Amino acid sequence: MLHSQITYVVTTYLFLCFFSLTLCDQSRDSYNTRLQNTLILGCSTPSKNASTSFRNNLNLLYSDFVLQSSQAGFYNTSVGAGSPDTVYGYFMCRGDINHHLCQGCVLNATDFARKTPCESVAGSFLSEYCSFGYSNRSLSGSYDPRSSLFATDHIETSVSNYNQFNKTLASTLASVINLAAFNSSQVSGFATAEGSVTRDETIYTMAQCTPDIAGVKCQECLESGYSTLRKGADGAPGAVVLMDKCMLRYDNVSFYDFGESKSNEGEGLRVSFIVLLFLGYCYLV
Ligand SMILES: *[C@@H]1O[C@H](CO)[C@@H](O)[C@H](O)[C@H]1NC(C)=O
Ligand SMILES: *[C@@H]1O[C@H](CO)[C@@H](O)[C@H](O)[C@H]1NC(C)=O
Ligand SMILES: *[C@@H]1O[C@H](CO)[C@@H](O)[C@H](O)[C@H]1NC(C)=O
Ligand SMILES: *[C@@H]1O[C@H](CO)[C@@H](O)[C@H](O)[C@H]1NC(C)=O
Repeated sequence: MLHSQITYVVTTYLFLCFFSLTLCDQSRDSYNTRLQNTLILGCSTPSKNASTSFRNNLNLLYSDFVLQSSQAGFYNTSVGAGSPDTVYGYFMCRGDINHHLCQGCVLNATDFARKTPCESVAGSFLSEYCSFGYSNRSLSGSYDPRSSLFATDHIETSVSNYNQFNKTLASTLASVINLAAFNSSQVSGFATAEGSVTRDETIYTMAQCTPDIAGVKCQECLESGYSTLRKGADGAPGAVVLMDKCMLRYDNVSFYDFGESKSNEGEGLRVSFIVLLFLGYCYLV
């Protein structure tokens, strides 16, 4: 078994803002918008290039994803069963969005992937509303803690009530992780939880794992996301970490989207946006 490095191909939205803050609308709405417009595609450095037959199977997998996403928020399958060119893959949509939005996200994601050259037999896609992965071996039941996209909604100085905020954040994230891993209700592997910082300030949190890693592995995946947030988002009022099989997000304004249109909560806050891509993602190829 070889560990091969993955290189990420990223759309320009975030990097425009990253390098030139003046080009960006410094508001919370813009944080949400940029998050929704960020598509991250990872392609493992090929130890062996995909065959034509593998690519054909991959295209069939993408079409199947689009079809299935009109009715399911998670799907895992394989195309070309038994042959050396079998493609294994899954997609997941965020647990609070409706099927229409899920399908739109999967459609955009697979379009983006089809247009982006990847010679390899493994790849993964991350975005705010949906993610997917594929490989020449089954990905079911495992996750890779080294893949992540991290973004924070970040005020120049940290939250004013730092100690109280952090205390509430820690306990709320701990409970949302526990709920997603062991006790999610409607959508398997998905949970939200809120905690009060003060009478006027609430922290909204969301956690999700793909159902194939439910339980302890989900907890581990989310804990590693949590430690990324603790290191990178210390004092930020909102942040998100997206990983191949799990996601964790919090904010002091609600960002849930249970099938309804989003309310406009922009307050013209001064925010900047930071993205760290952790490279060195390894797939077992
Ligand atoms: C895979 O394909 C690329 C582009 O066609 C080529 O540059 C590369 O050498 C190939 N790699 C292997 C391992 O065959
Ligand atoms: C899909 O996931 C289930 C359980 O998580 C597993 O038993 C099944 O083999 C998977 N199917 C494929 C085609 O990978
Ligand atoms: C898909 O892409 C279109 C065109 O860029 C965009 O308007 C739409 O919001 C995207 N849909 C989702 C769900 O991301
Ligand atoms: C969110 O946190 C920021 C920074 O502390 C603060 O200015 C803002 O008022 C908070 N929003 C709410 C709704 O409490």
